[in-house]
Formats: sequence, C-alpha cells, structure tokens
Amino acid sequence: MSKPKVIVTRRWPQEAEARLRALFDVTLNVDDRPLDRAALQRAFRDHDAVFPTVTDRIDAEAMSAEPLRARLIGNFGVGFNNIDVAAAKARGLVVTNTPEVLTDATADLAMTLLLMTARRAGEGERHVRNKEWSGWRPTHMMGTQVTGKTLGLIGLGRIGRAMAKRASHGFDMRVIFFDPFPPPAEALQDLGAERRESIESVLAEADFVSLHCPATPENFNLMNAARFAAMKDDAILVNTARGDVVDEAALVRALADGRIAGAGLDVFAREPAVTPELLAMENVVLLPHLGSATRETRTAMGLRVIENAEAFFAGKEPRDRVA
Ligand code: DGY
Repeated sequence: MSKPKVIVTRRWPQEAEARLRALFDVTLNVDDRPLDRAALQRAFRDHDAVFPTVTDRIDAEAMSAEPLRARLIGNFGVGFNNIDVAAAKARGLVVTNTPEVLTDATADLAMTLLLMTARRAGEGERHVRNKEWSGWRPTHMMGTQVTGKTLGLIGLGRIGRAMAKRASHGFDMRVIFFDPFPPPAEALQDLGAERRESIESVLAEADFVSLHCPATPENFNLMNAARFAAMKDDAILVNTARGDVVDEAALVRALADGRIAGAGLDVFAREPAVTPELLAMENVVLLPHLGSATRETRTAMGLRVIENAEAFFAGKEPRDRVA
C-alpha cells in the first residue's frame, strides 16, 4: 500500500522530520518560508493530510480546492484558532491539535515573563548592554517583589494549572482564578487555587494577572479598557495565550496612564507586527511567541501531530481530534 501523502507548512525539528520521512510520502518546507494562499490551496488539493502551524490561516478559501484530496489537518500547536473548524467539517476534514506536550514549556515562559516584568529584567539587560550602568546603589532599578503576592489566572486549563503550581509551590503565591469551566475540586486542592465568580473579582485582587484562556470569539478583546481599569494600578499583566484576547490599544493607554504597572507579552494581535507604542515602553517585556519553543517540546509537538495522523490513516480515532 502506498504511503499517505502529507505536507508540512514550516520546518520541524530534525527528529520529527525524520519520522515524517519514515512514515509518509512527505513534502517538507526546507526553506521554512510561509506558504502563500495559492500554495496552501495546492497543499489541500495534492495531499492526504496538511500539517499547518498556528500562523497558517486555514479558512474556507484555503480548503476550497476541487477536487479536495486532503482528509486531515494536523495542526502543529495546541491553539487552533487559525483554523476555520466549521469550514473544515463542512469539507469533511478531521482536525487535530497538540495538547499536553507544551504545557510545562508554556507555563515556564509565563513565569519567565512575570518575573522579568516584575524585576525589570529586560530594562536592566538593555541598561547593561548599552553601557549605562554606573554601579550598585540602594535605589537603582527597584522592581516589585513576586514571592508571596497574589496571582490571578484567567483560565485554569492545563497551562493555567501548571502556572498555578509554579506560583504556589515555587513562589508562595496566593492563586485566584476565574474559569467558566473550572477543574474538579480535587485538582484545586494541591494548587491551593481559589475560585472567583467573575473576571472582575480576579482583577480587583491580583498583583499579577496571567491569561490562559483560548482565543474564542467570546474571548476577543477580553482584556479591554474597563478591565484594565478594574486591575490594581501596580499590577502586571502576562499574556502567553493569544494576542487578540487583549485589546492592544486599550493596553497601551492603560500602561501610558499608569492604570497598570507593566505587561509581559509573548503573543500579539497582529503577529509578527507589534503595536509600535509597546516597543517604546520600558515597563513592557516582549517576546516573539516563544511559549512552546524548547527543543524537547517542539519535537514532542511534531511527534504528536504524527501520532494523530498515524491513527487517522489506520482508521482509528486520533487522540487529539478537535473536529
Ligand atoms: C500553541 O501551540 O498554540 C502555541 O501558541 C504555539 O506555541
């Protein structure tokens, strides 16, 4: 029997590409350049499975090829807001994602951003590299203490819980959260996480607010001007979820007016573009969507896409089917 014909839209870590080669008749993207619309359409027309990443917009137009050969979309990423799932279903395509394998890496990065923003690490590094440092002094570049403070989580799924664990076990933080679908009470005990009935109650109490909710239409601009006003004026926002959960213009105003103290951002509403005002703000730490970017995790993500595809082509239900 001939091997399924699959295409990946970007480079993958070596080990994952080697496994793709072993199992499939694979089209790799050796130049690592994003596919344009026409190339994406051809991908769906000429392959049994398309393995996009979170930056490929897989909408009805991308899947409009006639006849359509593709039957599977194996997203390299846990978030799948890049895929029009309804359109995929309408075209008979199965969609999978890569949960679990990136939980720890993403929570590690959320904590990195929290610490960097609180302790002014980005600003301090620029200060040293720019040769502006004139020496230690008691009032130099004072940040805000992290240990013992209150962390407010918006969303307590896998990554939110991993963040809660780091904060409570590692930094003695009190953890409060809002989630419309909270985990069972046993899962909360170990974390000592306290539930709040609304986002506003979390914002009113938290010294740090970290976003761990999906990019659904309901969560679009969830952090807006009113919600920034509801935060403490010395609080810090951390976003490793998705850019469009935050109204970036409102964030800029809140930071400029001192309504909040800082922000640590790994994701942006119009990636790779970053709202220019943010680039000029010292109290903002900016990272280029690195949440899952460890060698181990990115390899595991690729292998998880492959595991789902193997199941699919063997006629079984892929474990990470989302549509
Ligand atoms: C995901 O998987 O959704 C991440 O944003 C990629 O790191």
